[in-house]
Amino acid sequence: MMRMERILSWTTQLLFVSLVFVSYVRKGDAGLTSPFVRSEWPAIDIPLGSKEFVVPEGHNAPEQVRITQGDYDGKAVIISWVTPDEPGSSKVEYGTSEDKYDFSAEGKFANYSFYKYNSGYIHHCLVDGLEYDKKYHYKIGSGVSSRKFWFQTPPKIHPDSSYKFGIIGDLGQTYNSLSTLEHYLQSEAQTVLFVGDLSYADRYHHNDIGIRWDTWGRFVERIAAYQPWIWSAGNHEIEYMPELGEVVPFKSYLQRYTTPYAACQSSSPLWYAIRRASAHVIVLSTYSPFVKYTPQWKWLREELKRVDREKTPWLIVLMHVPIYNSNEAHFMEGESMRSVFEEWFVHYKVDVIFAGHVHAYERSYRISNIHYNVSTGERYPVPDKAAPVYITVGDGGNQEGLAGRFRDPQPDYSAFRESSYGHSTLEIKNRTHAIYHWNRNDDGKKVPTDSTILLNQYWASNKRRRKLVKPSFGTAAF
Ligand SMILES: *[C@@H]1O[C@H](CO)[C@@H](O)[C@H](O)[C@H]1NC(C)=O
Ligand SMILES: *[C@@H]1O[C@H](CO)[C@@H](O)[C@H](O)[C@H]1NC(C)=O
Ligand SMILES: *[C@@H]1O[C@H](CO)[C@@H](O)[C@H](O)[C@H]1NC(C)=O
Ligand SMILES: [Fe+2]
Repeated sequence: MMRMERILSWTTQLLFVSLVFVSYVRKGDAGLTSPFVRSEWPAIDIPLGSKEFVVPEGHNAPEQVRITQGDYDGKAVIISWVTPDEPGSSKVEYGTSEDKYDFSAEGKFANYSFYKYNSGYIHHCLVDGLEYDKKYHYKIGSGVSSRKFWFQTPPKIHPDSSYKFGIIGDLGQTYNSLSTLEHYLQSEAQTVLFVGDLSYADRYHHNDIGIRWDTWGRFVERIAAYQPWIWSAGNHEIEYMPELGEVVPFKSYLQRYTTPYAACQSSSPLWYAIRRASAHVIVLSTYSPFVKYTPQWKWLREELKRVDREKTPWLIVLMHVPIYNSNEAHFMEGESMRSVFEEWFVHYKVDVIFAGHVHAYERSYRISNIHYNVSTGERYPVPDKAAPVYITVGDGGNQEGLAGRFRDPQPDYSAFRESSYGHSTLEIKNRTHAIYHWNRNDDGKKVPTDSTILLNQYWASNKRRRKLVKPSFGTAAF
């Protein structure tokens, strides 16, 4: 049985490789829909009590340890964790050599309830004044229950600071999610850009919602305790549940996941920006007001003016709902945000926009639809050198399974699409070049499947730009 599957998967891979080859030869035409169909692992959540969710030993031991960037420029981290039994200490001891903690910082804790679930004590501690490009060791908790971790600060803000980001979305807590994490660990990426929908705890009922937030925190600790995850919120974070008496949007998410929003003059943890190495990363909230005159709209308008491509050449935007997506799932849900922000993305020459939400993978060409006009009939997206590349990686592997139906024919804006689980990496080399990969989870194996070189929108002129013959979409044959 196992062997048969392996042979089948080999044949599909061979077929796939030859198709990729053909498509490269055929360069200049429309995009590629990968025929790869993964063998489904059960899209069920890992059962409670499994070793993937192991509770650390010792009374009140810190669990769900995670870090995120703590300031605008990468010289601070926020370290967060949960103590289950009593508040305990919010102190972080840290230093640059192992077992020698010369410094300490004091954080804060809070607890919350959701329906009848009472959370543990959630600690957030800002550790700032760090040096660039250094390994720091840190310790939290006390006595036999204390736990030790480490992280590496990014190189200084500089146009040629090289850096490798990973991009993960819609992760959940299934065996497919685990496979994504395992493959991510092999990628040697240094920071996760997370594009929303974390735990999928909202698919549970009553107290299990809180319990599944806790299991997810322990699940991702293997990575999140050692490198920052840059958070953005998805629809599964909203948790508007009047039937349980819970009507405050993002309640669990905001208690558990912090962001350095104040450092960039944002008024909400749901939208903010950071600078790291040679990148300026802007995080937007699909599920917060963003139309003209709202706080998010005003903040983004100002933040885009603060972007300095001479210092941080790479301008990256994260959001949950994709603006260009050709899957039947969530088709056109990004139109509302497109109509408000696309003009700015083109004007400021954003390099790449990562989104999740659709449980499949897709990469677009550089296209825009900023001439859309309801009164003149202008309505088609067209090739646009100044436009971002749009990448959807909502394929972390959550319990809802894959979005398997792509629209047919493949629209001209779509460069590559495949319905599989996986994650991406963006390896910034210098001010002009970045190497982008999407890695499929082929069950046990990590398979680099889609890749492209991104030439910087500010520093490199994109000479290899693909020309589309016609601006017609959707109905016409190629
Ligand atoms: C927080 O924990 C205390 C016990 O330390 C408890 O009395 C209180 O009800 C908890 N608050 C919430 C909102 O769960
Ligand atoms: C739409 O087209 C009309 C007529 O040409 C023009 O006056 C108007 O400014 C356009 N609106 C936008 C938002 O481009
Ligand atoms: C940037 O990196 C690319 C790829 O490694 C290399 O070909 C190019 O020469 C580099 N450019 C600069 C300005 O260093
Ligand atoms: Fe979503």
